[in-house]
Amino acid sequence: MILVTGGAGYIGSHAVLELRRSGQQVVIFDDLKEGHRAAAQDAPLVQGDLCDRDLLIDTIRRHKVDAVMHFAARCYVGESVTQPAKYVRDNARGMHELLEAMRACEVKRIVFSSTCAVYGVPAKVPITEEFIRQPISPYGITKRFCEEQLEMYCRAYGFAVVAPRYFNAAGADPDGQLGEWHEPETHLIPSILRTVLSGGTRTLEVFGTDYPTPDGTCVRDYVHVADLASAHRLALTAMKPGVFEPVNLGTGRGQSVLEVIAAARTVTGAPIPYQVLPRREGDPPALVAGGDKAKRFLGWTPRHVDIVETVRHAWNWLKAHPQGYQS
Ligand SMILES: NC(=O)c1ccc[n+]([C@@H]2O[C@H](COP(=O)([O-])OP(=O)(O)OC[C@H]3O[C@@H](n4cnc5c(N)ncnc54)[C@H](O)[C@@H]3O)[C@@H](O)[C@H]2O)c1
Repeated sequence: MILVTGGAGYIGSHAVLELRRSGQQVVIFDDLKEGHRAAAQDAPLVQGDLCDRDLLIDTIRRHKVDAVMHFAARCYVGESVTQPAKYVRDNARGMHELLEAMRACEVKRIVFSSTCAVYGVPAKVPITEEFIRQPISPYGITKRFCEEQLEMYCRAYGFAVVAPRYFNAAGADPDGQLGEWHEPETHLIPSILRTVLSGGTRTLEVFGTDYPTPDGTCVRDYVHVADLASAHRLALTAMKPGVFEPVNLGTGRGQSVLEVIAAARTVTGAPIPYQVLPRREGDPPALVAGGDKAKRFLGWTPRHVDIVETVRHAWNWLKAHPQGYQS
């Protein structure tokens, strides 16, 4: 039985779908502040806060949990600058409470959602796992501290840990069962698509066209959420007691903001005008995953690497759910 924290959120819900399709049993733990009951589908769901250690222990014991996938976190980089306390509590302390609940129940296998934000502004791209961790936002700092806690628990208590560092999660379940809905939406692809759906009431903003990139806009590595989900399933069998394994999850391809907008024009047929604003503080010019550790260590190769296909999956779900999970 796998405990999936944050399993009612965007990536966690796709992981739950993947696990259940492969015949595994799951229990979701989510406070539903950002997540959606409908995204949990009919999987068992415990609504609770990560900082409630007793409820975590009760959930692990009652459901006979033997491994954990930990997606639950606060994830708005900008908000983390103005409200760091929320990030220290939910991300850093939440990790501590979860680890202590696991230790109390002698459950030692965990896959932890880390992020390329732990690298900060890398000296070069592509980025491999050996790059120094120098996060520049409170969000990234709390994620690095989660990794550090996990490293200590591996060494001292024999925990088995895989920490996938995702680049930009994107797309939606190819069969259209699940998608991405955040309020506010800060991710590029759903922002573009929700602008199209708004019929002109929303304006798309592009932050910076003077970066040292081929077209001047930021370059990111958009990894399909269904591929992230399959990597998590594989991580459960690749992990080893006493070992902390960070692993980059990306496609190894970079797409600029303007290339993503062009892909969205192809998919939607809409003109998609945009307004150019100054650079946002702390946005590195390019973040692209490098190395072959995910393939070597997990046996994972991303299946959906065409940005047009990724945008199409996101669009198919959004068109069918214009109000998100309330639709
Ligand atoms: N989306 C990305 O591009 C991306 C990239 C890198 C890393 N990540 C990481 O992946 C994970 C999932 O991201 P997502 O985009 O699905 O986010 P999300 O906000 O959609 O999902 C997170 C879920 O965790 C729940 N949650 C948060 N704090 C909680 C708490 N204290 N107690 C209980 N539940 C809590 C939320 O309600 C939500 O359902 C996060 O850890 C995030 O940092 C995401």
